[in-house]
Order: sequence, then C-alpha cells, then structure tokens
Amino acid sequence: MQTPIQIFACQNRTCRRDGSTQVLQALKQEIAAQGMTEQVAIQETGCLGQCGNGPMLMILQSAARQEIWYDRVQEREVPLLVKQHLLEGKPLADMLSRAKHPKRDFPVWTQPLPPPWHS
Ligand code: FES
Repeated sequence: MQTPIQIFACQNRTCRRDGSTQVLQALKQEIAAQGMTEQVAIQETGCLGQCGNGPMLMILQSAARQEIWYDRVQEREVPLLVKQHLLEGKPLADMLSRAKHPKRDFPVWTQPLPPPWHS
C-alpha cells in the first residue's frame, strides 16, 4: 500500500554539492523521531530538473495528487518543515520553490496527517 505522503529528495550531483545528503539524513531522523515512518516515505531520486536550486525536495500527497516543491532546503530547516508541513498541514510559503510555485502559492492543502502523532 502506498504511504499517504511521499518525499522525493534529489541526491544527484548538483544537489549533493549543496548539501542534499545532510538534508536527507535530517529528514530520515526527524520522520523517525516523530513516529511517522508508516505515513511518510522518503525516496532518494536522481535529478528533479531543478539543478542549481537545490537541495530540492518534492512532497507528494498521494490522495490529493498534490505536489509541493521546496528549493534550497537546509539541514537546519528540516525540523520546521516536518512540524509545520507534515504535522500541521501548513506548507512553508517562504521555502517554496520559486520555479514551481512562482506566486508562492500552493494547492490548498488538505488536512494534517491523522493520529497517532496528534493524540
Ligand atoms: S541535481 Fe538536484 S535537481 Fe538536478
């Protein structure tokens, strides 16, 4: 069964140069620390076609088929991303990819993830 949320994390050369390996590790740690591993799958990907703007992350909510893209993600930003986007259901407008969300808008996010982590 597909997880409700998938995070695609570019691990290609240009993003790696900009710190994508550290971002990926921080994501894995934060998702595990929040007990979200059954609801969130992290996929390491090749180039997502946004070289030079990395590290790139694309978050896909399967049911709604929503893609939300973040660029220039820093390791230190990962806890906030997980808390605000995944736990509270509020994408971070300031971190959105300018190329993919030129108006800093995003599809209307549906709902925060369900328990157990909200209980
Ligand atoms: S190397 Fe990451 S988007 Fe191209």
